[in-house]
Amino acid sequence: MEAAFYLFLLGAFMCSTEAAGILPDGPLNAPVGGSVMFTTFLTEADGPFDAVTWNFNATILIISYQSGSSLIPPAYQDRITFFPSTASLELKDLTLDDGGEYSVNVFPDRGGIIKLDIYEKISRVSIKSSTEQITEGSSVTLTCEASGSSPSRTWKKDGSDLNLSENVTLSEDNTVLTFKAVKKENSGEYVCLVSNPVSSSEAKFTIVVNYGPANVQIEGKDLINENDQIKLICSAESTPSATFTWRLNGSEIIGSSAEFLKEKAQSSDSGTYTCEAKNTVTEKQSTAEHELHVRADITSGCYAGCIAGIVVGCLVVVAAASAGGFFVYKKLHKRKPDPPPQTAEVNHIYEEISPVYQNVGK
Ligand SMILES: *[C@@H]1O[C@H](CO)[C@@H](O)[C@H](O)[C@H]1NC(C)=O
Ligand SMILES: *[C@@H]1O[C@H](CO)[C@@H](O)[C@H](O)[C@H]1NC(C)=O
Ligand SMILES: *[C@@H]1O[C@H](CO)[C@@H](O)[C@H](O)[C@H]1NC(C)=O
Ligand SMILES: *[C@@H]1O[C@H](CO)[C@@H](O)[C@H](O)[C@H]1NC(C)=O
Repeated sequence: MEAAFYLFLLGAFMCSTEAAGILPDGPLNAPVGGSVMFTTFLTEADGPFDAVTWNFNATILIISYQSGSSLIPPAYQDRITFFPSTASLELKDLTLDDGGEYSVNVFPDRGGIIKLDIYEKISRVSIKSSTEQITEGSSVTLTCEASGSSPSRTWKKDGSDLNLSENVTLSEDNTVLTFKAVKKENSGEYVCLVSNPVSSSEAKFTIVVNYGPANVQIEGKDLINENDQIKLICSAESTPSATFTWRLNGSEIIGSSAEFLKEKAQSSDSGTYTCEAKNTVTEKQSTAEHELHVRADITSGCYAGCIAGIVVGCLVVVAAASAGGFFVYKKLHKRKPDPPPQTAEVNHIYEEISPVYQNVGK
């Protein structure tokens, strides 16, 4: 019996195993620092097993188990758990050096072999842009950087697959996304998903394509009356938002917002209004023009002679009012006490007024 076992052990060392029967096909994947379970197809009913050996890369002994006692080399002492009932093995605290072939031999004639691939988990995924400020028409590259073993990358834009074209291309390994001449439609949130068989991680990058100003327009009335409100609104397609400068007949006027407002228009506010839209990032500017005519009001459209006329008129009114006031004052103080108001008197006043209306009618 003993001789047979040593012969078996020797056989196991020499040729690993051709009997790949009691382990799954593999390979198994496991992360650095993690653990892996080599589970055989054997059950308790198949045992008990007199002798079991596990080897790494055919020649390195992990455990030699015989009749309840086991021999474990120092390198594996604290890292393995052996399950005698199924001849299965657990290996912990994995390092990249643990990648290779694991074989098991169960005396007298069963065995198996399986490959284990160790991966460093994906970490530190980031997207780096070739330029900080992205302006329309410029060339931009996004590079998806990552740490970890065998990273494979996929990209999404706003949750959908990328539409690659002659102007939007990916490098062969999917690491670099290139925009030949970036368009405003390329704005959006880009995600680079990096994965390997044991982990995945992603990074996001938002492309804001600065463009414009384009399509500058002024909205407002062409013709208003004096004392009406002037309200002109300038708009422009621009990222970032445009800043505005207003001019009247070429001279700068107060107002640096999109809206030009003046509560009471004067006829001197007539003229050509220009809105100049500027984009501080693209350093481009564009203008729009708007003709406004403020129509002079007949009652207030009045100068020198007219004003003198009003002044004279006023004096006359004041004089008349004073005289009238004096007369009324005197009259009130004479007729004291006042007689109670009578219906007849009211009727009388009415009758007096009626003929006046009739005269006007004729
Ligand atoms: C084990 O074998 C694999 C190939 O299967 C090899 O890459 C690895 O370096 C070997 N490891 C040791 C410690 O011999
Ligand atoms: C790709 O193109 C299709 C059709 O033009 C469009 O509906 C979709 O939004 C595009 N996807 C992206 C990510 O731009
Ligand atoms: C690529 O860009 C060029 C120049 O801007 C343009 O003429 C062409 O239509 C673009 N191609 C696609 C597929 O968008
Ligand atoms: C602007 O020009 C128009 C037409 O030349 C003129 O009628 C108007 O008085 C001018 N306005 C100002 C404020 O200069």
